Order: sequence, then C-alpha cells, then structure tokens
Amino acid sequence: MYGRGRYITKMEAPAFSKEIKPFRSVSFEMRSETEFICGGVELIDSIREMWHQLNLHASKRSPFFSDQFSERTFQLRKEEMVSKAKTCRLRIEIARDATASRDLGYCASSIDYFGNGEIESLFVDDEARRRGVGDALMRRTMEWMRQQGARSTVVFTVYGDESIFSFYARYGFRPKMVMLESSLDPAHTEQP
Ligand SMILES: CC(C)(COP(=O)(O)OP(=O)(O)OC[C@H]1O[C@@H](n2cnc3c(N)ncnc32)[C@H](O)[C@@H]1OP(=O)(O)O)[C@@H](O)C(=O)NCCC(=O)NCCS
Repeated sequence: MYGRGRYITKMEAPAFSKEIKPFRSVSFEMRSETEFICGGVELIDSIREMWHQLNLHASKRSPFFSDQFSERTFQLRKEEMVSKAKTCRLRIEIARDATASRDLGYCASSIDYFGNGEIESLFVDDEARRRGVGDALMRRTMEWMRQQGARSTVVFTVYGDESIFSFYARYGFRPKMVMLESSLDPAHTEQP
C-alpha cells in the first residue's frame, strides 16, 4: 500500500481482471449484463475503434485544432501509451455488454512516479450513453487511484467542449489552467 503523498516506485500494471455487474438499461427498461475488463497497456489494441470515435468527437468540437485531431493516428497514441507505461502505472478498463458481446466504452488512466493521476481517455459509445456506463468507469478509475495512493488526478478536455465540465465536476474535477498552443506552422493555424 502506498500512503497519500508518498512516491510510487513500483511500476506494475494492474492485474488483468474481469468482473460482471448487473446493469439497468434505462432506455430499454431491461436488464443487461455489463462486464468490466481491466488491465494494463496490453489491452490497448482493444480500444482502437473507440479511440477513433473519441478522436472524431474531439475533431468536430475543436475550433482551432480540428485538423490535428483528425490527422492523429491510433499508432502514435499507442506508442505514447506504451512509452508512458514504462514509467507510470497505466490502467485500461473496458465496459462490455456481455449479452451482446460488444464494447460499450473504456477509460484509460495513469499514475506517475510522483503519484499524479491522469484520466488519459474516456469514451462511451453513442448508443450506450446516459445509462451509467461512463459513471461506472469513472468511479472504478477514481477508486483505483485512491487505492494506489495517488495524490490528485487531472483530465485534459478539448477546448470547445466545455459542457463536459459538469460531468467531471461529479467526481471533484474543477477547471484549473487553460493551455494555449501554437502549431508554429501557419498552414495549420485555423483562424478564429
Ligand atoms: C462523457 C461520457 C463519457 C459520459 O458517458 P455516459 O455513459 O453517457 O455517462 P453516464 O450515463 O454514466 O452519466 C452519468 C451522469 O453524468 C451526466 N452526463 C453524461 N454525459 C454528460 C455530458 N456530456 N455532460 C454533462 N453531464 C453528462 C448524466 O446525465 C448522468 O447524470 P444523472 O445520473 O444525474 O442523470 C460520454 O458522453 C462520452 O463518451 N462522450 C464523448 C466523449 C467525451 O466527451 N469524453 C470525455 C473526453 S475528456
């Protein structure tokens, strides 16, 4: 166990686990089984399709960097995650509809050497939204961070998609900084 505020020195990935939870589907008023598959960077390829959808979502909302999102490849993101997993604890959790054998969403998160947590990526499939999947993923991720002794956690959201703030506020997130970026390439600078 790692105390609050202490350095995390072990870099092991969370053990691969599978847990099935009964879930109420509000839209169809029926019960379906949602399972949570949790592991480390070895699960990265399983989120490829959902990551593409998340990237598309970001590209549609970003007023100035839409091109950067649409040009971003999963391969690059994968390499970043694999590299990060060498120095951080990296956790990927996938929510699956066990009955229909389809992925509903995922949350990727990390904790660095100093105990700083980060929600790397969170996505729930369009058709599975507003049924508590995102909430379940966030609660489980936050619980993992607490158990690991993380000091605090951050999430980077796309500028232009501020409606998401109220979702993250449920888990204690408040706006702190705004990052301004220049691509240094005039061809890639979208004018306001
Ligand atoms: C944000 C997202 C993960 C939420 O997933 P979800 O499964 O629909 O969320 P839940 O059904 O668990 O909702 C939990 C609560 O948050 C609220 N909520 C859900 N999405 C919200 C949003 N976009 N903005 C504000 N509140 C939201 C719900 O109303 C619900 O509140 P309630 O219990 O009082 O009704 C999902 O909409 C998504 O993937 N969006 C696109 C990608 C994205 O924005 N990811 C985050 C990038 S940083």
